[in-house]
Amino acid sequence: MSEIINTATVASVREIVGDWRASHRSVALVPTMGNIHAGHISLTEFAHELADRVLMTIFVNPTQFGAGEDLENYPRTLKQDMAAVKAAGTVHAVFVPKSIKAIYPYGIDEAIQVNMPPLSRELCGAFRPGHFDGVASVVLRLLNIAQPDLLILGEKDYQQLVLMERLVSDLRLPVSVLGAPTERHADGLALSSRNRYLSDDERVRAPTLHATLAGVGNAIREGERNYAILLEHAKHKLEAAGFAVDYVEVRDAKDLSVPNGRQAPRELIVLGAARIGSARLIDNVRI
Ligand code: PAF
Repeated sequence: MSEIINTATVASVREIVGDWRASHRSVALVPTMGNIHAGHISLTEFAHELADRVLMTIFVNPTQFGAGEDLENYPRTLKQDMAAVKAAGTVHAVFVPKSIKAIYPYGIDEAIQVNMPPLSRELCGAFRPGHFDGVASVVLRLLNIAQPDLLILGEKDYQQLVLMERLVSDLRLPVSVLGAPTERHADGLALSSRNRYLSDDERVRAPTLHATLAGVGNAIREGERNYAILLEHAKHKLEAAGFAVDYVEVRDAKDLSVPNGRQAPRELIVLGAARIGSARLIDNVRI
């Protein structure tokens, strides 16, 4: 692939995408907050398989961080990010907004915010008030700026994926949302920028999150239907490994509704979020 186009303004993104469109190229958007790791690269590979042109955005979005969260400390590693993206050879252009005003022209306090439906206040949303309103606010802005054919998001952030599908369908945005599979270390830990907060000892214990969710998934696959007991055991297992558990839940994989025994069996998903040291890890396993 020739040189990656590096752009910092909305006008230049529009021009680049406009040129792609004029030559009938399909466009996939991969939004990120930077600190690019193999998980992000796998999103771009997924995007590259599906679209002629891949646009990555790197923007640490202030509106999705709550008070006391890691906005200030969130790793900003632009130089390494650009090198990693270049080495991958799957991205055609990277949009790194010059300033917050490129995304929020009236500033954060005056910004129009998306008010997401009640699902945004469940699961992770119950522990991170306003988080998904902030994610939706920035994703909507990025979609309006780039107007891609495809929006690629990771399945690791499963609630985010479902809510962004909802945003797109409710607002009738002309884009398809696709979830890319989670990239994992050999011991099962999902790749995440927040893994860098783990001490050596916490890193050894961190894969217990995935192992525990997989255990719940296996038990359900084998016919166990007492979810309450399964989830209680799962929480104890995580606590024994040193996690403070935010939640472990079984939900409908399509819309994250709470499964109801009276409905026809649907595809399920086990989701969990737990804190270990200063890292908050999330993961999920499809059943
Ligand atoms: O998943 C993320 O990294 C972020 O929530 C996203 C989608 C880039 C929006 O800031």
